[in-house]
Amino acid sequence: MITIGFIGAGKMASAIINGLDKKQCQIQLSASSAHSTQKHAQALNVTAAASHNDLIQSSDIIVLAVKPHIIPSVLTQHKIDKPIVSIAAGMTLSDLAELTSPTQPLIRVMPNINATIQKATTGITRNENVSDDTFATVVSIFERVGSVHEIAEKDFGTFTALAGSSPAYIYMFIDAMSRAGVLHGMPKDVSTKIVSETVLASAEMVLKSGENPWTLVDNVSSPGGTTVAGVVSLEQHNFVATVIDAITATVEKNNQMRQ
Ligand SMILES: NC(=O)c1ccc[n+]([C@@H]2O[C@H](COP(=O)([O-])OP(=O)(O)OC[C@H]3O[C@@H](n4cnc5c(N)ncnc54)[C@H](OP(=O)(O)O)[C@@H]3O)[C@@H](O)[C@H]2O)c1
Repeated sequence: MITIGFIGAGKMASAIINGLDKKQCQIQLSASSAHSTQKHAQALNVTAAASHNDLIQSSDIIVLAVKPHIIPSVLTQHKIDKPIVSIAAGMTLSDLAELTSPTQPLIRVMPNINATIQKATTGITRNENVSDDTFATVVSIFERVGSVHEIAEKDFGTFTALAGSSPAYIYMFIDAMSRAGVLHGMPKDVSTKIVSETVLASAEMVLKSGENPWTLVDNVSSPGGTTVAGVVSLEQHNFVATVIDAITATVEKNNQMRQ
């Protein structure tokens, strides 16, 4: 049975650990202190490692689930001779290789907040030192908390905007629609539920139908009807260009943070 060691046990590590089948893998963790490690391990029903070094020795795969600025100290203070999985935003494979060695097997992963409900959309890439078997194992770990997309590392910034940050934009859209419901006399909680269910089902329709989303817009726009009036109003206020600008701003910010 494979042993997965998590260094860091915050929001993202907890979401992933909660999704894993503890009958199929052993999980241990190590957080910022012995006390905190015990507390997290108890809450997640996994093993508390005595130290980072103990965890590294007894795990097959090490998941770095600390904030990006903590990674350099963890990697310089501890020699890790096992495949490393990093979920740190903005840390490239070459950043990680500089902190370890040119032969270190490294996998970069970008899950999103939907891991907390086992519906993450996760991006993944690896360096040339990672075997196909190890990569498949890591993919299967993240498949436990949602879908996994192997992407080129150059696309991680775009992926971060489209999957990492976009939940915030989608929440804004849901809230704006719900507020419009309130404006027209509906209680906020009722309109939020109605809008959320509609967003969920509409996304499912895009995925299941395989249609281009614009075709689906046309399908629900009857000539001279209510829907096309709203579609035209959205376009008069530059809806598409505004959304594209928001994604571009996110990608640019991501690139600036990398410099
Ligand atoms: N949250 C997201 O939506 C999201 C999405 C994609 C990627 N990520 C990435 O996931 C990583 C973790 O983010 P998070 O949101 O889970 O952060 P978080 O909730 O703040 O958790 C950070 C964890 O790191 C631990 N830690 C701090 N210093 C440590 C050290 N020296 N050794 C071991 N553990 C240490 C903390 O321990 P204590 O509990 O003891 O304080 C805590 O458990 C980040 O790199 C982030 O970029 C997060």
